[in-house]
Amino acid sequence: MSEFIYLDNGATSYPKPQEVYTYMDSFYRRLGVNPGRSGYDICMEAGEVVEDTRQALTEFFNGTDPNRLCFSYNSTDALNLIIFGMLKKGDHAISTTIEHNSVLRPLYHLWKYNGVEVDHIPFNSQGFVDPDDFKAKFKSNTKLVIVNHASNVIGTIQPVGEIGKLCQENGIPIAVDASQSLGKIPMDMDALNLDVIAFTGHKSLLGPTGIGGLYVREGLEIRHTRAGGTGVRSAVQTHLDEYPFRLEYGTPNTLGIAGLKAGLEWIKAKGLDALFRHEMELTTMLRDGLQKIQGVTLYCQDDLTDHISVLLFNVDGMEALNTGTLLDVDYNIACRTGLHCAPRVHDHLGTTQLHGAVRFGIGPFNTEAHIRTAIDAVSEIAEMQSKRG
Ligand code: ALA
Repeated sequence: MSEFIYLDNGATSYPKPQEVYTYMDSFYRRLGVNPGRSGYDICMEAGEVVEDTRQALTEFFNGTDPNRLCFSYNSTDALNLIIFGMLKKGDHAISTTIEHNSVLRPLYHLWKYNGVEVDHIPFNSQGFVDPDDFKAKFKSNTKLVIVNHASNVIGTIQPVGEIGKLCQENGIPIAVDASQSLGKIPMDMDALNLDVIAFTGHKSLLGPTGIGGLYVREGLEIRHTRAGGTGVRSAVQTHLDEYPFRLEYGTPNTLGIAGLKAGLEWIKAKGLDALFRHEMELTTMLRDGLQKIQGVTLYCQDDLTDHISVLLFNVDGMEALNTGTLLDVDYNIACRTGLHCAPRVHDHLGTTQLHGAVRFGIGPFNTEAHIRTAIDAVSEIAEMQSKRG
């Protein structure tokens, strides 16, 4: 069997750097106690790892107060805390059609069951939203703008800085879903005028699954929509208002936090720019290769500026799932097919009726050889399909 080639880094990064596995193993063996609950040495030390990671992440996107970095389980969890904690009956929210279900579904629930109005700004033929379209939808009851930073389906990076500026000028909070971007491209919350960001640890931050978080700019308060243990001030009957406890509930995923810390350190050591350059060189090589194949349609990939290392395509006349199965079974290449939890993107591209499309997601451990093999594989599949007629 040929070498296994993992091109599903949009779903999760794999493998993780060796340093992440090593650190997680040693952390959990030595410090796998419940941090912040007691005063014995290893409990304090485990707590320091949590707080150091809070600090390092906050600095990573130029936040100001590490206490306003709250850990969650993943982006969906963080986005639920944001959306349900910021909107109530009678409010209006603006989002986009490029969102993942982690934003679409909470907003839909609020629209259907809680009397919240929602507008979704469409993206253009190249996969970008226009900031002016947001401005045109601002109303006196607009209480949240929530935008995907980098698409998990077509890879386009939205102009969140411009949207953020418009929001700031109009006194409307903006939250950004940075699931695919944080750890791939530099992010400066302040320069981008962002109020809240949500992220996951297991994609570009190279940590494990089950850890994510959100950061809330000072001056903005998100209502707590859950209540529970905080490890401190146990006699208080309500959930605590102060951050990070305000949006953290119960024993944290310390093993996940440790992995996230190691992932972040690895990224810093390698250099975010160098890693991104490597991934985009491979993405360009893949795009150029796929573009030359007759019978392959690429979506929103004409210009790879403002783009992350995710490519979407179909072999003409084939259902995406069948292309993915051939890539897996005949070529040992992992990809993701279907609607990628972002159904409105596929509605817009016209790929819903093909049951979606095929996505390649490139990560830091992919090589030119992987890309050459993937191009050859798609070429053979397309040729076979054209012969079938
Ligand atoms: N959101 C992840 C993806 O795009 C799971 O595949």
